[in-house]
Amino acid sequence: MVCLALRTWLGLGLLALLCLGLGQALEKRVVRSKLGEKVSLPCCREIPRSESLQNYRAYWQKKFPEVTVVVLAYSDGKMIEVDEQYRNRTEMDPWDLILWISPMEILDNGTYQCVVQHNSVVVCDESLTLFVTADFSQPSVTAEVTASSCESAEMVVVCSSHGGFPKPRISGALNNVSVEWNASWVSESSLSPYNVTGTLVLNVTSDANVTCSVEYDGLAKSTSFLLEKTNDCVVPPVPPPYNVITASSIVVITFILAIILAARYLPRRVCPHCCKPQDRVEEGMKEGTKPPVSLKVTSETSSV
Ligand SMILES: *[C@@H]1O[C@H](CO)[C@@H](O)[C@H](O)[C@H]1NC(C)=O
Ligand SMILES: *[C@@H]1O[C@H](CO)[C@@H](O)[C@H](O)[C@H]1NC(C)=O
Ligand SMILES: *[C@@H]1O[C@H](CO)[C@@H](O)[C@H](O)[C@H]1NC(C)=O
Ligand SMILES: *[C@@H]1O[C@H](CO)[C@@H](O)[C@H](O)[C@H]1NC(C)=O
Ligand SMILES: *[C@@H]1O[C@H](CO)[C@@H](O)[C@H](O)[C@H]1NC(C)=O
Ligand SMILES: *[C@@H]1O[C@H](CO)[C@@H](O)[C@H](O)[C@H]1NC(C)=O
Ligand SMILES: *[C@@H]1O[C@H](CO)[C@@H](O)[C@H](O)[C@H]1NC(C)=O
Repeated sequence: MVCLALRTWLGLGLLALLCLGLGQALEKRVVRSKLGEKVSLPCCREIPRSESLQNYRAYWQKKFPEVTVVVLAYSDGKMIEVDEQYRNRTEMDPWDLILWISPMEILDNGTYQCVVQHNSVVVCDESLTLFVTADFSQPSVTAEVTASSCESAEMVVVCSSHGGFPKPRISGALNNVSVEWNASWVSESSLSPYNVTGTLVLNVTSDANVTCSVEYDGLAKSTSFLLEKTNDCVVPPVPPPYNVITASSIVVITFILAIILAARYLPRRVCPHCCKPQDRVEEGMKEGTKPPVSLKVTSETSSV
């Protein structure tokens, strides 16, 4: 629209050049960086080495929604102002005027403006947008079977990833068909790293491949996970535990009876020569209780 308005003022060839120039400039003026990294923001003008810095003033400012603060300013080749948020994190070469920020913070996201003055006349004034992102961890996927039958298993699948920025989207697929994760986010503030968790309740009838993707600012991290449908149909599930209980009960009862009989029989024969008949009984019980336990264990494992 700006271009159309300019049509009345400028020739067609000049118009085309201008629009091309504008488009390129807009494309160029986006810088992407990662949390903790070092980033360089190019200014719109270099000071020619032949010139005296005395005649130049250059500054970088950051536009917050409410205020604009000066990040760094050079006048007469000296740094004259630094904002508290950027203190000790910025550098600027007095000739190329590139602003370096390290380490990058989430709060650094936003629009920056470089202004150069020569003998108090503004010779260039340009803005660029800095996008700060932080990488999410590789998503971890877990599945828990909540109900299972011969035909299907109901599973709760949970996918989680942490420590990234900005707020992500969570998407995925079940056997290549896209599915909707029920997502929830945790973050200390809207300008802090996010933790994200997606939940999916599924009925699977056979092994299935589920993928979970965490997408943020055009980037994505994905994990695939194989959901295994256990086969509950081959062995009828009820009889084995019943048999085990019956068999082990019989063994336990037999031993208890044997111990009772032994306890009654032994004291009569041994007592006249022994002062502590109680100990004998306890020893007998200790020895007697071991075999039923090991028998129970072996019968359980062999039936599984
Ligand atoms: C910047 O560094 C100086 C000296 O290295 C230190 O005294 C000062 O506390 C630092 N300021 C901030 C805001 O970190
Ligand atoms: C980062 O800054 C850009 C430009 O001001 C803005 O469009 C974007 O919403 C900001 N992102 C966050 C997460 O604040
Ligand atoms: C899944 O879809 C992708 C493209 O969407 C295709 O290349 C791939 O072969 C598909 N895989 C299966 C197992 O269907
Ligand atoms: C998503 O999860 C929330 C909280 O865990 C729950 O209240 C809501 O019903 C779920 N939505 C769907 C579509 O499953
Ligand atoms: C995000 O997850 C990490 C790792 O699990 C944890 O240390 C951190 O406290 C979580 N952050 C929030 C805001 O819950
Ligand atoms: C799964 O199947 C069971 C029984 O067939 C049904 O009660 C349940 O609602 C299903 N769950 C989902 C998420 O489709
Ligand atoms: C699941 O699907 C993804 C993408 O379609 C593939 O890369 C992966 O190997 C599959 N995994 C399994 C266990 O089938």
